[in-house]
Amino acid sequence: MKKFFLLLFLLTHLLLFSQTKPGDFKYDDFKTPEYCGTSCHVDIYQQWRQAMMSEAFTHEWDEIEYFDLALPHSEKDENVAEVKAGCNACHAPLAYVTGDIPPKRPKFNTRANESVSCEVCHSIVGYSGDIPYNGNYIMRAGKTKFSSRKSDVESPVHIIEKNDLFKSGDFCGICHNEKSPFGVWVKSTHLEWKEGPYSKEGVQCQDCHMPKVEMRTASMSKVYPDARSHLFHGAHDKGKLSGVIELRIQPDIREVEPGQTVKFSVILFNAKAGHKFPTGSVEDRLVWLEVNAFDSKGNKYHLPVDKKGFEGEDYTISQTGILAYQDLGIAKGITNFKGLERDAIPSGNRIFRKAYLDPQGRLTIQQWNTASFGVDYRIGPREAVLETFTFRVPENCPPGKMKITATLNYQLLVKSVGEFLGVPPSEYETIKINEHSTEITILD
Ligand code: HEC
Ligand code: HEC
Ligand code: HEC
Ligand code: HEC
Repeated sequence: MKKFFLLLFLLTHLLLFSQTKPGDFKYDDFKTPEYCGTSCHVDIYQQWRQAMMSEAFTHEWDEIEYFDLALPHSEKDENVAEVKAGCNACHAPLAYVTGDIPPKRPKFNTRANESVSCEVCHSIVGYSGDIPYNGNYIMRAGKTKFSSRKSDVESPVHIIEKNDLFKSGDFCGICHNEKSPFGVWVKSTHLEWKEGPYSKEGVQCQDCHMPKVEMRTASMSKVYPDARSHLFHGAHDKGKLSGVIELRIQPDIREVEPGQTVKFSVILFNAKAGHKFPTGSVEDRLVWLEVNAFDSKGNKYHLPVDKKGFEGEDYTISQTGILAYQDLGIAKGITNFKGLERDAIPSGNRIFRKAYLDPQGRLTIQQWNTASFGVDYRIGPREAVLETFTFRVPENCPPGKMKITATLNYQLLVKSVGEFLGVPPSEYETIKINEHSTEITILD
C-alpha cells in the first residue's frame, strides 16, 4: 500500500513538474484573451494587444519565416527537423502544447493565432532544468492562475496562486533564450541580462518592459500604486529604440587646412537597454554608425570608419557587393543560390552585429541553421565603445565651417533579405537611433 502511494506521488509529481510536451493539453483547457480582457482585465488586455507577443504567430514576418523558410527546411534537412514543432513552443504555445503541429496559417484563424496569450504566461509554474530556454515551461492549465501576488479581491472565475517566478527575469528567459539544433545560443537576451549589471542590482526585465503604474489590474480590483503594465515594448516600438545608444563626436583639432588630416572620435554608450544592443533576433538586425561631413558650400563627404584590426572585423564594416545568406536557397528550392547583398547599405560604416554562421560557415539570418558564430561586436548594457574616423580634408575644400554628423541607424531586418522574401517594408525601414554633430573650421 505504501509503495502504491509512493508511486502515485511520483507520478503526479512527474505530471505536475515535468516540461510540458505537445499533446499535454486541449485547446479547451485555455480561455481566450478576449475572455480575460473584455470585461475584467480591460487595460492589461489593451496593452497586450499592442505588444508583439499578441502577434507572435500572426505577424507577417513571423508567418513568412515559419511557413516559407523554417517549415520547408525542417522537412528537407533532418538536422533541423525539430524546429517544425520547436518554433511554436514560443510563438504559438497553445498550438504546441495541444500538439497542433504544424499549426494552420494565420488566415485559418485557429487558436494558434492567440500567440503568447494571457493563459500561456499565467499557466506557467516553472521551467525544467537550471536554465530557462527554448520554451521549457512547465504549465498547469485550469482554474488556478499564477502571478506574482495574490489579489485583495477574489476573482469570480479563477483562483490566484502566488508564484515568485513571475517577479523574475528568469520567467522571460523561458522564451527569450534559444539554442539552435546545433547547440549554440542564437537568442540570449536573458543570458546577456544575467551577466550584465542590471540583474546584479536586482533590476528585472519587468522593470523596463512592464513598468509599474497606478492602475486597476481588473475592473473589480482596487487601484494599485504599483500595478504591472503589460506594455512589452521592444524593438518594434520607436520610442523604446530611440536613444538606446547615446553618442558624441569630437575632433582632435578644430582648425584644419585643406590637405591636412583630422581625426574624429565617436563614443557610443548603451544607456537604456538591460542587455546587449542589438539583442534577441540579432541575426536579422542591422545597426550601423555613419559619419558625414558637410563643408561651407554644402558638399557632403562620407567618412569611412578606421579599422581596428580585430579578428572577424570584416563583418563589422559595411561593404557593397559581398553576397551572403546562401542557405535561404534550401527552403526556397533554389540550387546553388548565389545569395543576397550582405549589408545592403553604403560601404565603410561600422556595423554592430553578431555574425551567425551556417554549417558551411556562411552568414545566415536563419537562426535555426546556425552552427557557429563569427565576431560578436555589439554594445553591452552600460558599455561604451569608441570608434575613430580619420579624414584628410580635400585640397579643394572651401574655407569656412564644416559640420560633422554621426548617426546611428537601425533596421529590424537586412533590406536585401526583406525584399527577397516579400516582407512588408516597415520591417526594414531605416530608423534613426541617435545623432550628434560637431564643427571644425577649414582655413583659407
Ligand atoms: C509574456 C507573459 C505574460 C502575458 C502574455 C500576460 N501576462 Fe499578465 N503578468 C505577467 C507577469 C510576469 C506578471 C507579474 C509581473 C511582476 O510582478 O513583476 C503579470 C501580472 C499580471 C496581473 C497582476 C498585475 C499586478 O500588478 O498584480 C494580471 C491581472 C495579469 N497579469 C493579467 C494578464 C492578462 C489579462 C493578460 C492577457 C491580456 C496577461 N496578463 C498577459 C506575464 C504575462
Ligand atoms: C511563452 C513565451 C514567452 C514568454 C514567457 C515571454 N515572451 Fe516575450 N516574446 C515571445 C515571442 C515569441 C516574441 C516575439 C513576437 C514576434 O514574433 O515579434 C516576444 C516578444 C517580446 C517583446 C517585443 C520585441 C519586439 O520586437 O518589439 C518584448 C519586449 C518581450 N517579448 C518581453 C518579454 C518579457 C519582459 C517577458 C517576461 C515578463 C517575456 N517577454 C516573456 C515569447 C515569450
Ligand atoms: C534597463 C532596462 C531594460 C531591462 C532590464 C531589459 N530591457 Fe529589454 N529592452 C530595453 C530597451 C531600451 C530595448 C530597446 C532596444 C533594443 O532593442 O535592445 C529593449 C529591447 C528588448 C527586446 C527587443 C529586442 C529585439 O531586437 O527584438 C526584447 C525582446 C527585450 N528587450 C526583452 C528583455 C528581456 C527578456 C529582459 C530580461 C531578461 C530585458 N529585456 C531586460 C530595456 C531593458
Ligand atoms: C525560445 C523561444 C523561441 C523559439 C524556439 C523561436 N523563437 Fe522566434 N522569437 C522569439 C522571441 C522571444 C522573439 C522576439 C524578440 C526578439 O527579437 O528576441 C522572436 C522573434 C522572431 C521573429 C521576428 C523577428 C523580428 O523582426 O522581430 C521571427 C520571424 C521569428 N522569431 C521566427 C521564428 C522561427 C521561424 C522559429 C523556429 C525556427 C523561431 N522563431 C523559434 C522566441 C523564439
